[in-house]
Amino acid sequence: MATRNIRYMGDSILEKTAKPVKEMSEKIKTLIEDMLDTMYEAQGVGLAAPQVGILKRVVVIDVTPEGDSPIILINPEIIEADGEQVGDEGCLSVPGKAGRVTRPNRVKVRALNENMEEFEIEGEGLLARAFCHEIDHLDGKLYVSLVEGSLHDTVVYEDEDEDEE
Ligand code: NI
Repeated sequence: MATRNIRYMGDSILEKTAKPVKEMSEKIKTLIEDMLDTMYEAQGVGLAAPQVGILKRVVVIDVTPEGDSPIILINPEIIEADGEQVGDEGCLSVPGKAGRVTRPNRVKVRALNENMEEFEIEGEGLLARAFCHEIDHLDGKLYVSLVEGSLHDTVVYEDEDEDEE
């Protein structure tokens, strides 16, 4: 297992456009493995290569609570989007924060797998949100630019003064 350092908001690499992967290589295979390790260790549901400092169009996602269903997307693009969902979104590059973002409720993505074979995958709810969020990363876009209102802390503090008893 090898994890990589996650880049945080303010790092200019997160604002750059990532380049398409032209062919599978040992380097890209290792990148994918390391991205999965990094995502699982950080308990995130998705990670895009620019977040570990690599400007390649590679995304990993796993929205399952078990963390046993990784989705690997190379050169992904959204080809269909329907509906709307409004909810809190966070990002491993913006630790401890969340903010309200409107996204399509269902999206269909076309991408390449690790064997550079084209496939399509559909997602609803959280998975659709993850597709949109991670693909935005490949275009140098952070969710904070889409937040309605302001970012808030995700840490919950117990406030004993508010106890009604
Ligand atoms: Ni993110």
